[in-house]
Amino acid sequence: MTQENTTVTEHRIFQGDYRLLRLSAPAIGPLVQPGQFVHLRVPRLADAVLRRPFSVFKADAQGLSILYKSIGKGTAALCSVREGEEINLVGPLGNGFPLIKKSTTMPVLVAGGYGNAALYLLAARLPVKGIAFFGGRSAIDILCVDEFKALGWDVRVTTDDGSLGQNGLVTAALDLWMEERGAGSRERGAGSGGGSASLELFACGPNAMLKAVGERAIRHGLTAWLSMDRNMACGVGACLTCVIKRKTAEGWEWARCCKDGPVFESREILWEQ
Ligand SMILES: Cc1cc2nc3c(=O)[nH]c(=O)nc-3n(C[C@H](O)[C@H](O)[C@H](O)COP(=O)(O)OP(=O)(O)OC[C@H]3O[C@@H](n4cnc5c(N)ncnc54)[C@H](O)[C@@H]3O)c2cc1C
Ligand code: FES
Repeated sequence: MTQENTTVTEHRIFQGDYRLLRLSAPAIGPLVQPGQFVHLRVPRLADAVLRRPFSVFKADAQGLSILYKSIGKGTAALCSVREGEEINLVGPLGNGFPLIKKSTTMPVLVAGGYGNAALYLLAARLPVKGIAFFGGRSAIDILCVDEFKALGWDVRVTTDDGSLGQNGLVTAALDLWMEERGAGSRERGAGSGGGSASLELFACGPNAMLKAVGERAIRHGLTAWLSMDRNMACGVGACLTCVIKRKTAEGWEWARCCKDGPVFESREILWEQ
């Protein structure tokens, strides 16, 4: 984890309500692993005590970029930042997604909202390309389809209003695809020489979507890595703002999304009713 004064090199509307913010960050950029996030101090925010967490969209030796949506005070203030301005960053933070090494495992990405951006680095760095399911309210909310296709991913889109891709929830498209593929039976077959690739799920998006993806993984005997979004104050494991319940042999314990996560395997999470 590093603290760095970065410089804004690009800041523009990316698509719909989402903006792209690119930062020159030669100390943090090269360290970023897929699924990690940065904690950003928003310039000129009156009560700037709390930083704001953002997943890293792209990262390289020179720096990194994020895709964000203005939803409150901090992100509204961030919109006014200009190219050339300085932004203080702490990062990279969190555990990130594990990278599949076996060529017999097929990665399945499931995303909604900024989840598409959060999964991009994983999609770029996974040695095996698979299938990505993106869901959103409307066509304008579906980010980065061409970027994922250019990396060699099969992208399936769902929208609530049917303006792009299949009409309905992203999990409905996932269900249909798994059913056609005979997901559960194939997973069991793959381990015993069945010959077909086993699936591993990676998801980022709204809580309800993550819970639904986790339930499907458990039902089909699959591994699912879920990136949990919680309000974060310190971002480094000290304040316990961001805790979720993690299952243990005895029952459950608190786990910090900023430090122990944000990525958890679906079987670890004890969902609140
Ligand atoms: C790991 C992670 C990755 C994320 N990645 C992205 C991304 O790539 N793109 C994107 O658009 N959004 C992302 N988000 C969401 C983003 O952090 C929020 O949209 C942003 O913090 C909203 O800030 P705001 O001031 O505009 O909103 P507000 O609702 O005004 O404030 C939210 C912020 O206030 C603080 N806060 C609010 N309530 C509490 C509380 N009870 N205790 C302590 N602190 C509190 C926190 O710092 C919180 O982040 C991510 C969130 C997490 C946890
Ligand atoms: S945000 Fe402080 S412990 Fe996670």
